[in-house]
Amino acid sequence: MPKYFVPIVLLLTLFLAAAELRSAEVVPVAPANYDEAKVQEYTLPDPLTMQDGRKVTTAEQWMKERRPELLKLFEEHVYGKATLFRKGNKTFKTRFEYLNSKPVYDGKGIQHQFQIVWYQGNEPDENAHRVDVLVYTPKLAVGKKVPAFVSLNFQGNHTTDADPDIRMPVRIWNRSKVVYSPAKEEERGAQANRWPMQFLLERGYACVTAYYCDIEPDVNGGYLHGVRKFLYKEGEKQALDEANTIATWAWGLGEMLDGVEHFQDKLGIDPTKTVVVGHSRLGKTSLWAGAIDQRFAIVISNDSGCGGAALSRRNYGETVHRINVSFPHWFCDNFKKYNLDVNSLPVDQHQLIALAAPRPVYVASATEDRWADPKGEFLSAYNAGSVYKLFGTSGFGGVTEPPQPDLSVGGIIGYHNRTGGHGILEPDWKHYCDFADKHLK
Ligand code: GCU
Repeated sequence: MPKYFVPIVLLLTLFLAAAELRSAEVVPVAPANYDEAKVQEYTLPDPLTMQDGRKVTTAEQWMKERRPELLKLFEEHVYGKATLFRKGNKTFKTRFEYLNSKPVYDGKGIQHQFQIVWYQGNEPDENAHRVDVLVYTPKLAVGKKVPAFVSLNFQGNHTTDADPDIRMPVRIWNRSKVVYSPAKEEERGAQANRWPMQFLLERGYACVTAYYCDIEPDVNGGYLHGVRKFLYKEGEKQALDEANTIATWAWGLGEMLDGVEHFQDKLGIDPTKTVVVGHSRLGKTSLWAGAIDQRFAIVISNDSGCGGAALSRRNYGETVHRINVSFPHWFCDNFKKYNLDVNSLPVDQHQLIALAAPRPVYVASATEDRWADPKGEFLSAYNAGSVYKLFGTSGFGGVTEPPQPDLSVGGIIGYHNRTGGHGILEPDWKHYCDFADKHLK
């Protein structure tokens, strides 16, 4: 062997490893584009063309063939498979424990609280994982059941309403380090502008909410501190196509719905009339929850942006590269393969909207929320229309252009662009109630 062979091979290996690293991680994320003229050309994958090229022409073919195919593609490449949560694989059990109730808002409604308990063994022990669920139901004639919004909150149930009896989370999780601090009394009602409980009660809707970090903390490496502690051991690496936090929260929304089904008589909620709704990262979550769990009768995304309602192929505001670098724990690891080549993604987000079909689906943006790309969110809603046509429904109701701000447009696919910044406010909820009135009552 020539005497330079070994050092040359070593150098070459080092060089290749460095190049690999550069291409995979170290390429700096391009600054966000906010210039419509600089949006690159793209071709969207057709919701109605199967991977093998066949055209989908009937509702039946959509439900039996294309929907499962798309769901699988989204699992493998974007959100991850929740295989370990499925019956047969699940290594833990679920139980629901009812806690308490009392009248609220001068008797206009009832507040209930129950717990989802995840545990191993025969009975919940100190390793059990508990999630508090807060429910507000309008006061009704005995025996009647109402529709409900089911939605995760960002900062704890006690921040959604100032009521002193709402249970506070045991841990409020930090979003940059795997650490937590206790909840504080002064936080009560701090997010009440996002949760107009009295308004919802007056409109005849129940509201079911839980703190998303109670399901699993929203921090890279936090998965061993939420329900996935039952699935993995410390240091164990999950597969590239396995569920990450968004898919875990989405699965958690389904558990909340199970709880509603379980206590439906006590809560006075009709579990066949639930609306899954979420804001921002939790809007990405509600869209995915609506896709994987068809019990949700209506699916709503509020300002969900990249990885939610916004088209991935449009380089406007947040991009796939940016989101995967900033939040490596949200999507499955396969999604990172598209950081530098989003056009090779086998799906785009209009197909996620279409996974709600034939159920009503609603997308909302805010005029100043450019990071979430309002136009890209509108275009997703628009491009999902072809699937709804298979079912003979109104689809996007003939809408072709983004509407003026604050106007709710569409048909069984609805859309509005609220004046103002990133947030979920009473005007958004008003549109959601109107939309649900139209489709559920
Ligand atoms: C960040 C993130 C968005 C996300 C938002 C939120 O801005 O980049 O993707 O939607 O946080 O959840 O508030």
